[in-house]
Amino acid sequence: MSGRLDGRTVLITGAASGIGAACARRLDAEGARLLLADVNGPGAEKLAAELGQHAIAADVTRAADIERMVDAAYARWGRLDVLFNNAGVIQTKPLLDVTEADWDRIMTVNLRAVFFVLQAVARQMVKQDPIPGSELRGKLIQTASIAAYRGGQALLGPYSASKAGVVSVTRTAASVLAPHRVTSNALCPGVVETPMWEQIDAEWTALEGWARGEAWKRRIAGIPLGRPERAEDLTGTVVFLASADSDYMTGQAINVDGGLVMGG
Ligand SMILES: NC(=O)c1ccc[n+]([C@@H]2O[C@H](COP(=O)([O-])OP(=O)(O)OC[C@H]3O[C@@H](n4cnc5c(N)ncnc54)[C@H](O)[C@@H]3O)[C@@H](O)[C@H]2O)c1
Repeated sequence: MSGRLDGRTVLITGAASGIGAACARRLDAEGARLLLADVNGPGAEKLAAELGQHAIAADVTRAADIERMVDAAYARWGRLDVLFNNAGVIQTKPLLDVTEADWDRIMTVNLRAVFFVLQAVARQMVKQDPIPGSELRGKLIQTASIAAYRGGQALLGPYSASKAGVVSVTRTAASVLAPHRVTSNALCPGVVETPMWEQIDAEWTALEGWARGEAWKRRIAGIPLGRPERAEDLTGTVVFLASADSDYMTGQAINVDGGLVMGG
């Protein structure tokens, strides 16, 4: 077999659904060895069984679960080449109605957990040998969002702030870890047809009194490339970020969004 990621070891969080699951399938096809982590343990197990890979039930908001998850990767392979730090949650709610509990829940999963998963993995990566055939010791990939940049996300205040934070953490890690030959980049998807968007549509249409599906229809109407994004549209970029082809890139946030965000 000759794939672009032959033998590379990859930990994916939020692997049971949507973008994480689509990337798991593609990375598997490219020859990577995978540990699929998700708070939905049975979902991760099911996909791992289908692919002949490994799974672990882990809630990334819990320090003990992060430790168990990272230890499992190192116990299995003795190293981890790539982290795909992807788990996330959303809530659609008007700014004036957001509670402290709402804020804390979004931030705890989308930013706090992303930070501490990155930290736990980076602590190990800086001590390991370079990836075979590479000058790098490891590669960190965070899932942010175009919501990190776009203003006017009236119903996504905490979520957008969390994703701006993910870009910030990605860049801090990139500069701190560059001397250790560990890179850190972020993926910014656009409007992707996953269970997360089913939730957004349900919450948003309920707020507006619209028929189900109307929020989705309005949101995808302005996409320059003329169709909604599928989770599969992100897999090529994640393969690129996990592969040697991106070895000289660090601290970047890449929009893969059908052209929704353009310009600097
Ligand atoms: N769908 C979109 O339009 C879109 C756009 C931009 C960014 N994103 C981001 O992409 C990532 C994946 O989203 P998706 O659309 O595939 O959503 P999804 O809901 O299909 O998948 C998210 C996965 O994360 C898991 N998860 C949630 N909380 C967790 C926790 N505490 N510990 C471990 N796993 C947890 C869920 O169980 C689920 O399997 C998220 O970070 C999301 O914010 C999505």
